[in-house]
Amino acid sequence: MGRPAADFVGSLPGLGLLLCGLGCLASAELRAPPDRIAIIGAGIGGTSSAYYLRQKFGKDVKIDVFERDEVGGRLATLKVQGEDYEAGGSVIHPLNLHMKRFVKELGLSTIPVSGGLVGIYNGQTLVFEESSWFIINMIKLVWRYGFQSLRMHMWVEDLLDKFMRIYRYQSHDYAFSSVEKLLYAVGGVDYVGLLNHTLRENLQKAGFSEKFLNEMVAPIMRVNYGQSTDLNAFVGAVSMTAADSNLWAVQGGNKVVCSRLLQASKGNLISGSVLSIEEKMKNKQTGNPTKMYEVVYQMGSETHSDFYDIVFVATPLNPEMSTITFLNFNPPIEEFREQYQQLVTTFVKGELNSTLFSSRAKDQFGLSTILITDNANMFINSLGIVSSVRKKENPASSPDGIHVWKTFSREVLTKEQISRLFLTYDYAVRKLWRSYPYYKPPQRCPSIVLHDQLYYLNGIEFAASAMEMSAIAGYNAALLAYHRWNGHTNMIDQDDLYEKLKTEL
Ligand SMILES: Cc1cc2nc3c(=O)[nH]c(=O)nc-3n(C[C@H](O)[C@H](O)[C@H](O)COP(=O)(O)OP(=O)(O)OC[C@H]3O[C@@H](n4cnc5c(N)ncnc54)[C@H](O)[C@@H]3O)c2cc1C
Ligand SMILES: *[C@@H]1O[C@H](CO)[C@@H](O)[C@H](O)[C@H]1NC(C)=O
Ligand SMILES: *[C@@H]1O[C@H](CO)[C@@H](O)[C@H](O)[C@H]1NC(C)=O
Repeated sequence: MGRPAADFVGSLPGLGLLLCGLGCLASAELRAPPDRIAIIGAGIGGTSSAYYLRQKFGKDVKIDVFERDEVGGRLATLKVQGEDYEAGGSVIHPLNLHMKRFVKELGLSTIPVSGGLVGIYNGQTLVFEESSWFIINMIKLVWRYGFQSLRMHMWVEDLLDKFMRIYRYQSHDYAFSSVEKLLYAVGGVDYVGLLNHTLRENLQKAGFSEKFLNEMVAPIMRVNYGQSTDLNAFVGAVSMTAADSNLWAVQGGNKVVCSRLLQASKGNLISGSVLSIEEKMKNKQTGNPTKMYEVVYQMGSETHSDFYDIVFVATPLNPEMSTITFLNFNPPIEEFREQYQQLVTTFVKGELNSTLFSSRAKDQFGLSTILITDNANMFINSLGIVSSVRKKENPASSPDGIHVWKTFSREVLTKEQISRLFLTYDYAVRKLWRSYPYYKPPQRCPSIVLHDQLYYLNGIEFAASAMEMSAIAGYNAALLAYHRWNGHTNMIDQDDLYEKLKTEL
């Protein structure tokens, strides 16, 4: 599990000094680890931080993970006639290195995710149809949009390239005390500035045409974030990376990563709902009164409480979603009012009425994903054939034309709406989400450090909400808590990290 070497050296101060000389004197003088850490939320943010906290603080810390619902959070599956399908976070990018690492270290398997052939519908007609021939796609794209899609690819690649620096910083144990500082460290002022402008403004300035923005970019924002191109340019770029062709998912369901991380971290799952957090003086067995956090939580009809040295909040804090109150903090913990949008995932097993989208005969239709432009005036955001979390075969092959389709919509679909989309259907199941933030640039990200040893992970979602972003936040908060606990200020918010680390191995 990871790199225990540093902790080992730390636990033997004499040997530590001998091995590392003056250069790492500070890091050799470790304070005793905390006794107890609480993590609220067992989604990918909470469970990945449990995993990394265990690596940093060692085997003796007691880690409690509170979950009021199911482990996995927004990674969840729904059953359609005995098979499980991803209903929340579903696709993972090949360069999502934390997710990749988890799968490898936890011994899980992956399955490739293919959207099949994609069509883009504008309410009247398909403005773009993918072909199974790469070269034909290129010709179609160039014909319709000039070289804009290629330039788009380069714009995204450039931002992604810079973003990859975060992995290098984290592998050298560097932490950031705010999301803005993290983004500044990967790409400087222009990078942080992506949060201040809409994707549309950004791409218009870069010379992309209205047609390209409306027909190619907007449908991708709509399927991935349920919003228009007026979201911030950073989440816009993250969303564009999901147009990559090598996406994958975890066999058995992405949520399995969360339960396995929890297991590997030897965290203790408490199935309860946290009600409040309060700072109090507490007498530890070993000596003087210490400042600790009292976490009050509800299990069934009973209320319990426990004391912790460090608390991680790994769930969105806003009045509609959170039951957590911060009591008697001085100054008070800031209030978070940022809204999350409602989104409905619906799975329908049935036969699509393809004439809604194309006049072509239904056995000639061939598309398995339909994206939708913003002016199409449709009640759904997207529609696509999906395979179960166990299957590896191509979803598009079904002799009777019956598939499991997944749609996203703002509102719950009525029976009439489902019947308009499908010629026949015999099953529909849905899940309602508070899915991700409403992005309204200029965007300020909520703080990470709420109090001395009280950390908030989900502020990162206001830059962009994705599994990998939560995992990055989980690792960052674990490193930050570790360094702050030990007074290693030289590992937090360092300038010029990129230059500094260039010369290192
Ligand atoms: C429909 C949908 C599709 C998505 N698609 C993708 C995708 O394809 N790729 C991708 O990378 N990302 C995707 N995302 C985003 C991704 O799922 C999220 O960014 C990520 O899962 C967030 O993880 P988290 O741990 O930060 O939060 P959550 O998963 O929300 O975890 C928070 C947990 O805290 C628990 N909790 C809350 N309050 C309390 C309390 N008071 N006490 C105890 N427990 C509490 C909740 O029950 C929850 O389990 C999608 C999201 C949605 C909704
Ligand atoms: C972003 O906008 C905020 C005000 O909303 C401003 O304080 C900040 O300096 C801006 N950042 C950049 C990098 O432009
Ligand atoms: C399929 O959709 C088309 C176009 O909206 C409509 O004219 C037709 O009646 C629908 N077919 C069925 C069987 O509902």
